[in-house]
Amino acid sequence: MKLYGALIGIAVLALSGTAVAEEPIVIKFSHVVAVDTPKGKGAEKFKQLAEERTKGRVKVEVYPNSQLYKDKEEVEALQLGAVQMLAPSLAKFGPLGVREFEVFDLPYLFDSYEDLNKITNGPVGQSLLKKLDSKGILGLAYWDNGFKVMSANKAIRMPEDYKGLKMRIQSSKVLDGQMRALGGIPQVMAFSEVYQALQTGVVDGTENPPSNLYTQKMFEVQKYVAMTNHGYLGYAVIVNKKFWEGLPPDVRTTLEGAMKDATAYANDIAKKENDDAMAAVKASGKSEILTLTPEQKKAMKKALVPVHKEFEGRIGKDLIQSIYKETGFDPSKL
Ligand code: LMR
Repeated sequence: MKLYGALIGIAVLALSGTAVAEEPIVIKFSHVVAVDTPKGKGAEKFKQLAEERTKGRVKVEVYPNSQLYKDKEEVEALQLGAVQMLAPSLAKFGPLGVREFEVFDLPYLFDSYEDLNKITNGPVGQSLLKKLDSKGILGLAYWDNGFKVMSANKAIRMPEDYKGLKMRIQSSKVLDGQMRALGGIPQVMAFSEVYQALQTGVVDGTENPPSNLYTQKMFEVQKYVAMTNHGYLGYAVIVNKKFWEGLPPDVRTTLEGAMKDATAYANDIAKKENDDAMAAVKASGKSEILTLTPEQKKAMKKALVPVHKEFEGRIGKDLIQSIYKETGFDPSKL
């Protein structure tokens, strides 16, 4: 009887001990951009909502600016479980073996956020995220950044102006093809290295949405910024599948809700963040802003749209066609 009582006592102690000392579930969210960007702010919003709504059962540690990992390493770290959440740009999924994401890199495929969101919010976007499952990754959401501008130390208005320029790109074969179509020399490089590479002349130019151009101070080391808006850059928020599926179901549901709301927030601010960044670049007077004439725009499109056909084999003709159908893009009408 005594032994029985003692055992109950130990069990009660152990139970209450667990309740008091329960460690929070930690989600390490690593990314490569500044805090003051659509992705940086989206990550902070997810942290705030996740921590509030789980009442501290989950702690989200956000590591911005490649503090923890650079582009390529962060995906490996996610697969190994060293971090739990990332939001790489869609141009960075090719090396993982999911080439279809490079469809988002096709130049002039999307005219507006509206066109783009038809894809990311629809069945095509969802089926692309599903392709990550076999890599041990779950795709939770798409987050917008914006439309890219080109920059260099030379005035770049027409396709021929890019001839021979070393242009930094993300790790996407489509972006490689895009720069080659302009006669440029593409160079894949981690985002964290771009500012220095531009400053020291390792590369001559690059492309990025204004929010990245501004917050990484790239505009300070580029004489010209051309308002090409020739392509889109956005993200997929991804998690380690094993980790996510191993969460207590109630916690996972709460986190899914927090992600839904953080996604709405991030996508809501993306355009304004980019407009404000571009205004700040202009106001700085450090680089000359080139607005393309209708003829220059047309020449850029003529040079770049053939990249769609060139990459049909890699990305999938059906996928490209299904996007044309959804957005009404017609490559024969330029
Ligand atoms: C880049 O490498 O240029 C971008 O993918 C960075 C980012 O995450 O926006």
